Amino acid sequence: SVTPKIAPSMLSSDFANLASEAHRMLTFGADWLHMDIMDGHFVPNLTLGAPIIESLRKHTKAYLDCHLMVTNPLDYVEPLGKAGASGFTFHIETSKDNWEELIQRIKAQGMRPGVALKPGTPVGEVYSLVEAENPVEMVLVMTVEPGFGGQKFMPEMMDKVRTLRKKYPSLDIEVDGGLGPSTIDAAASAGANCIVAGSSVFGAPEPAQVISLLRNSVEK
Ligand code: DX5
Ligand code: ZN
Repeated sequence: SVTPKIAPSMLSSDFANLASEAHRMLTFGADWLHMDIMDGHFVPNLTLGAPIIESLRKHTKAYLDCHLMVTNPLDYVEPLGKAGASGFTFHIETSKDNWEELIQRIKAQGMRPGVALKPGTPVGEVYSLVEAENPVEMVLVMTVEPGFGGQKFMPEMMDKVRTLRKKYPSLDIEVDGGLGPSTIDAAASAGANCIVAGSSVFGAPEPAQVISLLRNSVEK
């Protein structure tokens, strides 16, 4: 399904007020909440894990789109499933040898599996995961080096998005990093339909306007 999914990145929210920040974004028109899970090892930053997902789940029914920037994603599958995560997107760079098992276990926990690519990773590395008998349901093309919000969008990553969209007309293709009013048209016209946006949404005087601008760009 290539309907737009606008996913504010909660990494840019006030973590001390996570539930109210989540409610605010849903009121502003967000479809998903993007949750950046970092272990201080795969990326040089440390954020949140299953205990915080479990706490947030008690305050919202929203789709929690979890992006696993961790060295061993397999260790997170059961805790996140039990915590109430909705999507579980792992990085191919960490999972070249066990992605089949990962996908199977993610689905067994009732979550939707996705695979992410760092900017330096060729897009061809995820074809077998999309074409597998038990496939991933989303590909996340990173448009910055993972680790931090507020970085500059890498337009050269749009070649990966175009290639994926041409091969897989109905695949969910997510972009993450530096998305906002000045970069959304490049991503949407390349074929991305799931849009993560942190600083551009949380930093706006009127986040609802940014969310609707992102959605309109994907829809046109
Ligand atoms: C970066 C994270 C992103 C980040 C995006 O490693 O995966 O989700 O929060 O933030 P912005 O939109 O500010 O680039
Ligand atoms: Zn992310």
